[in-house]
Amino acid sequence: MIELEHPASEDSMSEAPHPASVTIRQMRLDDIEYVSRLERRCYTLPWSSSAYVTEVGNSNAYYTVATQPDGTIVGYCGMWVIMDELHMTTIAVDPAVRGLKIGERLLLDLIQEGIRRGAERATLEVRERNTVAHNMYVKYGFEDVAVRKNYYSDNGENALIMWANDLTLPPYQAMLRDYEARLA
Ligand SMILES: CC(C)(COP(=O)(O)OP(=O)(O)OC[C@H]1O[C@@H](n2cnc3c(N)ncnc32)[C@H](O)[C@@H]1OP(=O)(O)O)[C@@H](O)C(=O)NCCC(=O)NCCS
Repeated sequence: MIELEHPASEDSMSEAPHPASVTIRQMRLDDIEYVSRLERRCYTLPWSSSAYVTEVGNSNAYYTVATQPDGTIVGYCGMWVIMDELHMTTIAVDPAVRGLKIGERLLLDLIQEGIRRGAERATLEVRERNTVAHNMYVKYGFEDVAVRKNYYSDNGENALIMWANDLTLPPYQAMLRDYEARLA
């Protein structure tokens, strides 16, 4: 996780979808142009499109997009699974449709896929003042474990390093099932 929520400065790219109408699928090369446009609206230090091309081709990585029925991409996220660790790399939702559980659906799918790939614990970085994302991670069992001082090059903000442990144990699995049922 390398960046911070950044207010939209352009007109919205999409109409508000009904949450249940959003589908999550794996990111494809032909999504990257649109994902990059969204990235530039969501992050102050956006990844290049070539970084996404590399990620989509990386067998240790898993990247998804959330789409509306007309195919419009309204969010995306990604991770690597290395040994038994899930490393979350990015997540963003179109500013026009935030607060509709799209970020949570992306995160839930990511964690479930990470567990299928053998992850037993998960980690990420989040800006210290990104309370929206931090709240979402806490909801999914992540805890603050360390601080990287002055980590972000644009404003010197600290990064919080968060970990969620015991992903495969019954209490965490029960929590995921509960959240999945609520999102259905
Ligand atoms: C973080 C982000 C992906 C959340 O996506 P979203 O679709 O708006 O979030 P959801 O509607 O799924 O909400 C999930 C949880 O996030 C938290 N949250 C969402 N909106 C919030 C708000 N306005 N204030 C506080 N917490 C909030 C809550 O914990 C919420 O769960 P709850 O509804 O049960 O309380 C989105 O805000 C975003 O794209 N931000 C910019 C990019 C970014 O900062 N990414 C994270 C980098 S570490």
